Amino acid sequence: MDTTQLKHLLGEMTRAEKIGQMVQLAGEFYKEEDSENTGPMHEMNMTPKKMTVSGSVLGISGAETLINIQKEHLAKSRLGIPLLFMADVVHGYRTIFPVPLAMASTWQPELVEESANVSATEAAVSGLHVTFAPMVDLVRDARWGRVMESTGEDPYLNQLYARAFVRGYQGQDLKNDPFSVAACVKHFAGYGAPVAGREYNTVELSERTLKEMYLPAYQAGISEGSKLVMTAFNSLEGVPATANKPLMRETLRKELGFEGVLISDWASVGELIPHGIAKDLKQAGELAIQAGVDIEMMTGGYLNYLNELIDEGKVSEELLNEAVWRILTLKNELGLFENPYRGANSELENNLVFSKEHREKARIVAEESIVLLKNEKQVLPLTHHQKVALIVPEDQSKDVLGPWSWKGEPSESVSVYEGLLNHISKEAIVVKTIDHSKNDRPKDWLDDVSTADVIVAALGESSYMSGEGASRSNIKLPAEQIQVIKELRTLNKPIVLILFNGRPLDLTDVVQDVDSILEAWFPGTEAGTAIGNILYGTKNPSGKLTMSFPRAVGQVPLYYNQDNTGRPLTAYNQEDKYLSRYLDVDNRPLFPFGYGLSYTQFSYSPMKVTLSKSEREQTDKIIVETTITNSGKVTGSEVVQLYIRDKVGQVVRPIKELKRFKKILLEPGEVATILFELNQQDLEYVHQDLSVSVESGEFDLMIGSNSEEVETTTVYLELKKNE
Ligand code: IFM
Repeated sequence: MDTTQLKHLLGEMTRAEKIGQMVQLAGEFYKEEDSENTGPMHEMNMTPKKMTVSGSVLGISGAETLINIQKEHLAKSRLGIPLLFMADVVHGYRTIFPVPLAMASTWQPELVEESANVSATEAAVSGLHVTFAPMVDLVRDARWGRVMESTGEDPYLNQLYARAFVRGYQGQDLKNDPFSVAACVKHFAGYGAPVAGREYNTVELSERTLKEMYLPAYQAGISEGSKLVMTAFNSLEGVPATANKPLMRETLRKELGFEGVLISDWASVGELIPHGIAKDLKQAGELAIQAGVDIEMMTGGYLNYLNELIDEGKVSEELLNEAVWRILTLKNELGLFENPYRGANSELENNLVFSKEHREKARIVAEESIVLLKNEKQVLPLTHHQKVALIVPEDQSKDVLGPWSWKGEPSESVSVYEGLLNHISKEAIVVKTIDHSKNDRPKDWLDDVSTADVIVAALGESSYMSGEGASRSNIKLPAEQIQVIKELRTLNKPIVLILFNGRPLDLTDVVQDVDSILEAWFPGTEAGTAIGNILYGTKNPSGKLTMSFPRAVGQVPLYYNQDNTGRPLTAYNQEDKYLSRYLDVDNRPLFPFGYGLSYTQFSYSPMKVTLSKSEREQTDKIIVETTITNSGKVTGSEVVQLYIRDKVGQVVRPIKELKRFKKILLEPGEVATILFELNQQDLEYVHQDLSVSVESGEFDLMIGSNSEEVETTTVYLELKKNE
């Protein structure tokens, strides 16, 4: 449809039809079509008759099902406006990739883009039009369960990943590419910073920190063309995001330039009542539309009260038209007016969903995302002659997909045991399970384990323990797992700990008791294959953390790019008390941002810095060069990282900021030159008055293999302050 036709369509619509476009229902409404008005239908005051005017549906898929729903809908829809089908395809549709925090550990945005592309293909042929992804919220607090859905604590990396996800989902030509889906950047804004890491809690962020640290990833996703943005559950500056007019109308629309559809999170319009800023659903609906929320997900503020609010003059027809125009535009951009079934295709669904090629891609991403945290005495890689004792929590051997893996089937995923079988025979494996409900183990349990040459303990969180609604105040391994590790230690056998988890854990209790630690996260469908390949060295681990691992939960929020204090702890004042420090724990993380080991070693040459100057003697380019050598015996990949520190700013600057990185694969003995180029824009920061600029002065340039092990050079840069 061209713009004139679309405008004409808007002009033809009745008010009820317009309001209907702004209502999103769950798929179950459609399953219950002939049933009574009960359950959520009842709560929303929804009836089958009203359903003919709804504009979108969430959480239902399957080509045949959605084609049928669309057909029936169109048969009843006076103007033939198709439904939009949306769902949470977060790290895969049925082929499940590692959770996003794990995918971030690849330090390969291009792989993330490919994963999103596979997810989009599977979702689109199954009839979906929109995915509620990516979640681009910056995170610093491992107590929050949804850190697994984020790409970590760094604004620069988060921007690259936000762009990669959006490109991967939407492809090059959303309208004509039936294998693409529209992306929805979420959750605007600051959802990743709930006070004390408690889910849905208040967010307290200064405007400056919001702009410098949190907004860049949303901005990146929007600039990459994300068609939707979702509001956050939390309040910011005392106002819940879903009703926060300055946040939505000024920051999102004007500052970040977002022109697409703004959708509420599930029931977040209704939640304005318990938040205490609306007395009832009618007022909640009024606040949401005033803030610019176009689609209300799963509460009835718009459905039941918008008409009345317009009659009473509390909401203008203009606001209604503005929202509906954006929704119609999205439908048009997806090509739904030309083909309301879009990519839905049962045959392709059968052939493409969970195909061999997609699983192969999931394996590659899983292998790249696994992080080797410890490898004493080079216990890893294992050899094929060793007998292995595999320890797993009972019933959890297939719990490898992680939260938000809606259509993923645990039974179709590869367990660690199955992964081991690709390398050794079943006679060479003793499997022992931990029963979480009992503390005592059968008498011969340890005796059996002691027959093995090496112990592989695949432990960690169950998928229930992270994700939405899974905040934890204790981020250690479950107590019985810690106890088992202590018991295993008494056997004096090498122990490899494989961790399944959706967040950085406090591993202080066990780190000394094991020889090797592989951080596997929730690796997805091909978990066991990827882990097996890494255990046996078919693949050399190369993942690096994008969130710091604490030594104690009391350190969180913990992040590498923190500001300095007036009383910093340094190498020279360790004995002093009146410093910014803890009495009982180091300030530093157990494993820092950017950290990850390899089966090979890399050596860095001293860095060289070249400053190129403009005619007016100002620095316009900073070129940092290093050579890196694979000085070990096997092929491996290293992530070379460049950080800066602005030594004197008008506001306190972080002690380190990641500015560039490169992941490079090197054969044994191979040498590569890495060149990074920075310009003035890379050094700019948000000032107290929220302007973005930079001043001349000294900068530390730091290059290394993680945020702590770096070589530093200080340079003076003559820079031009922005007008
Ligand atoms: O997309 C999600 C959101 O991230 C959390 N609440 C529910 C939404 C829809 O499922």
